[in-house]
This record gives sequence, structure tokens and C-alpha cells, in this order.
Amino acid sequence: MPSVGTTIFTKMSALAAEKGAINLSQGFPDFPPDARLLARASTAILTGNNQYSPMTGLPMLRDAIVQLVERHYGRIVSSQDEITVTSGASEAIFDAIAALIRDGDEVVLFDPAYDLYEPAVTLAGGVCKRVTLTAPDFRPDWQAFASLLTDQTRLVIINTPHNPTGSCWQAADLESLWQAIASRDIYVLSDEVYEFIHFGESAVSVHKHAGLSTRSLVVSSFGKSFHLTGWKVGYIIAPAELTVELRKVHQFVSFCTATPLQQALAEHLLALPDASDELGGFTNKSAMY
Ligand SMILES: Cc1ncc(COP(=O)(O)O)c(C=O)c1O
Repeated sequence: MPSVGTTIFTKMSALAAEKGAINLSQGFPDFPPDARLLARASTAILTGNNQYSPMTGLPMLRDAIVQLVERHYGRIVSSQDEITVTSGASEAIFDAIAALIRDGDEVVLFDPAYDLYEPAVTLAGGVCKRVTLTAPDFRPDWQAFASLLTDQTRLVIINTPHNPTGSCWQAADLESLWQAIASRDIYVLSDEVYEFIHFGESAVSVHKHAGLSTRSLVVSSFGKSFHLTGWKVGYIIAPAELTVELRKVHQFVSFCTATPLQQALAEHLLALPDASDELGGFTNKSAMY
């Protein structure tokens, strides 16, 4: 990738450290995660959970994700066939793009877009088409979106709640997206890493849209949700036939992510199923930003 340099996050974080500045450029909090979760990770390491996990993720964690998704979105997904645990949402996004995009395929992005999407599309041989999100609400212009679709369009990447604007798409946005792509052979990669972090109105997840969810790969991040960005544990939920394909990439990119961290997250979610309920309220009330 000769035209690609070091990410803006690496540059800005290094500059903030050098100048002693407050670092708002990279998405991590400056307060500690839940001590009970940290204790579970420590115990998981000391009690021998230190070898490779199954490629698709620890069964106990995938079961806990089934419960989490049902609790928040009322959707029942298959632990066996539709959930894959990855090394952060980043790996999930990369795996999905590498699995779906072939030479010359077009991928629609909404600008400003998270910086990982375009290089992953380019590496896979795809071409990005862009729709600009504009102030004040940074919600898409659906006519502009529809005018970009062609027979080569293979994937649309959406991100809600949105980094960096915080915009949260609502049911009408998802319905507009669905109406535009329903009759075409187009998939959706929905980056929902900030699903539990919002200010006021929450986003409506693709998990809640009956049509879109049959065509979508939905990405989540425990790093973001539990304020543990350095753990890099994420997951992706997709229909079985798409999951088969993305797992072919995942098995050679990372194979699996850190077993004791998966164990700790699984135990935490199963012991405290309401732990994720508090996150929205917590961020609303806190002074983290
Ligand atoms: C929109 C978006 N997607 C994905 C990621 C990556 O998440 P993870 O750390 O779980 O790989 C980030 C991290 O900042 C992000 O902002």
C-alpha cells in the first residue's frame, strides 16, 4: 500500500504524549474498567486458560453473546453458525471485507468514515464510492446514496453510533437503506462498536431490522463497550452463509483471540447479564469526555 502512511491515531497519540496534551484523538477512556472483570481475567490466566481457543471463539462467550443480543435487540442468533469472536472489531471488519470484496467491486462509505474501511477495500481489489454526511444531524441523503449504486456495488459500510460525529441512525434510516438495496445483490457491514455509548437518543441497530439483518454483518467491540480497548476482543454476527466465508479469512488472520480475556468476558456477561444495560446511562452521566 505505497500511498498509505501511519494512522492519524498513532500520530496524534504520540504528539499528545510528547506535548503532555489531553488526547481526544484516540477512542479510549481515562478511567479504569470494572474491577470484577479485571479480577476474572487475572483468575482466568492463573487457572490455566492460556492456550488457543476454538477458531470461532469460546463456546461460553458465544453463548453469552446470544443472550446479550436477545436482551438488547430481541434477535435470536445461532451461537454455532452466526457468531465469530475476533481480535477486536478491526479484525472483524477486515475479515468481512476480505471475504466479500473481489476485484472491481464497489463499496459505498459514508464520510467522514473510520480510517480502516478504505485500505481494507483497496487491499481486496475494491473501489470506494462516498456519500458525505452533513451537519447538523449527519444522517445520509438517501437520494445521493441511491444514485451511487450500480451493478458493481457489492457492499455498503455503515457506522452508527457514528465516529466521529456521534450521530445515531433511527429506524427510518435503516428502512431507507433497505429500500435502496433490497432488490439488489448488496450486503451491509454495520459497524456498531459504539452501540452502548451514546448521548441521549440511542441508535437503532441493524439487528432490529428484519430485512437488513438477513443481508448484514454486524460488528461489536467488547473493548469499546467495557472500556477495555487494549483487550481487542470483538465479534461479528452474520447469516450462516456469510459467516462460513468470513471465518475462512479469520482462521488465517488471527485464528483466535486471547483465551483468558474471552473467558473473563463470558463469565462476566453470564454472571451479570445487566452489566451492559448500565453503559448508556453511565456515559451519559459521566464526565468522560
Ligand atoms: C468506528 C470504529 N470501528 C471500529 C473500531 C475498532 O474497534 P476495536 O478496538 O474493537 O478493534 C473503532 C476504534 O476506534 C472505531 O472507532
